[in-house]
Amino acid sequence: MAKHTVTLIPGDGIGPELTTAMRRVVDATGVDIEWEVAEAGADVIETYGTPLPESTLESIRRNKVAIKGPITTPVGTGFRSVNVAIRKELDLYACLRPAFSIPGSGARYDDIDLVIVRENTEDLYAGIEFEQGSEDAAELIRFVADRGAGVIRPDSGLSLKPISITGTQRIVRFAFDYAIANGRKKVTAVHKANILKMSDGLFLKVAREVAEEYKDSGVEFEDYIVDATCMQLVLHPEWWDVLVLPNLYGDIVSDLSAGLIGGLGIAMGANIGAECAVFEPVHGSAPKYAGKDMANPTAEILSAMLMLKHLGETEAADRILSAVRKVIGEGTHVTYDIKRSNTGSTEGAVGTQAYADALIAAL
Ligand code: NAI
Repeated sequence: MAKHTVTLIPGDGIGPELTTAMRRVVDATGVDIEWEVAEAGADVIETYGTPLPESTLESIRRNKVAIKGPITTPVGTGFRSVNVAIRKELDLYACLRPAFSIPGSGARYDDIDLVIVRENTEDLYAGIEFEQGSEDAAELIRFVADRGAGVIRPDSGLSLKPISITGTQRIVRFAFDYAIANGRKKVTAVHKANILKMSDGLFLKVAREVAEEYKDSGVEFEDYIVDATCMQLVLHPEWWDVLVLPNLYGDIVSDLSAGLIGGLGIAMGANIGAECAVFEPVHGSAPKYAGKDMANPTAEILSAMLMLKHLGETEAADRILSAVRKVIGEGTHVTYDIKRSNTGSTEGAVGTQAYADALIAAL
């Protein structure tokens, strides 16, 4: 029996080619993993009647660890996001997105080393919405008016922003525990509590209470308003350490951080709950590059690096990171996005699998 069994969800768009490259690199480290391939996405609806078959969720629940490629979400119509459904079904409440500089990536900065901890289950992502013109929207608008809480234009659509004590406590504790386990110095809670007093105000109050529990941990605590955070991230990205944010700000600030380190092609991520962990890149399925052997698999491969650390396979994880640093640093065997950032042209770029070959040779 293999030492680890991991659920592998190839996804769609560029997902299958990226997960193939990832699997080749991970296997080449010699780490003993059995990959249990499970399906999800638009292509499986016909077979299973749903984009997220129960058997896929069961596989993750059984193995406790999964890695996935991106999955397309139809815009406007069709099914809700499979990615969000996986996080909800398995209560993967913490989204962990480390962003650190890899010299040669073509980024504007070379001294970034920060970690985004995004709350994954509530806030404006809760999916509690009332359609413009619906009876429910009208009733909610009347309710708000009757309570003297404010006047909402009758032709409004509404999305609720729930933030709870429970959800905030566990995400801020996660951020502190991560900081302690990884030798980090500071946790910053990011919010808009000056304006959103009932939701972000609660987030900040609870974050401060949790910080009190950790006051002897050696990890410093501060809070920052989200707009100022964005400006300071661009001006002084080296200031930041661990940032903990409610869901939507976490989503936006993690793409900002991806931009600081050279783009979505290298931005890794993990969704972690009390029972299971699902690793995935920050980026989506990039349909225009699907099947073209062009997309950059680094984000997928570094997500696997996080997974290996989670599995206790630190040496294999370190070897993969060193190989990525070496190959991107040399700049001769890199995908189009990195080539373009460095030279302004995609000439001389290699394909997804050729880049993976270069990583394997550098392990
Ligand atoms: P996207 O991340 O797929 O693409 C944004 C831009 O980055 C595009 O120009 C794309 O070509 C480029 N890009 C993305 N990944 C790349 C890579 N590995 N190498 C090189 N270039 C890369 O975002 P978009 O276009 O907004 O979404 C496409 C689909 O992906 C949508 O259906 C969306 O819902 C889904 N999505 C899925 C996610 C997931 O599975 N966790 C996360 C984000 C989006």
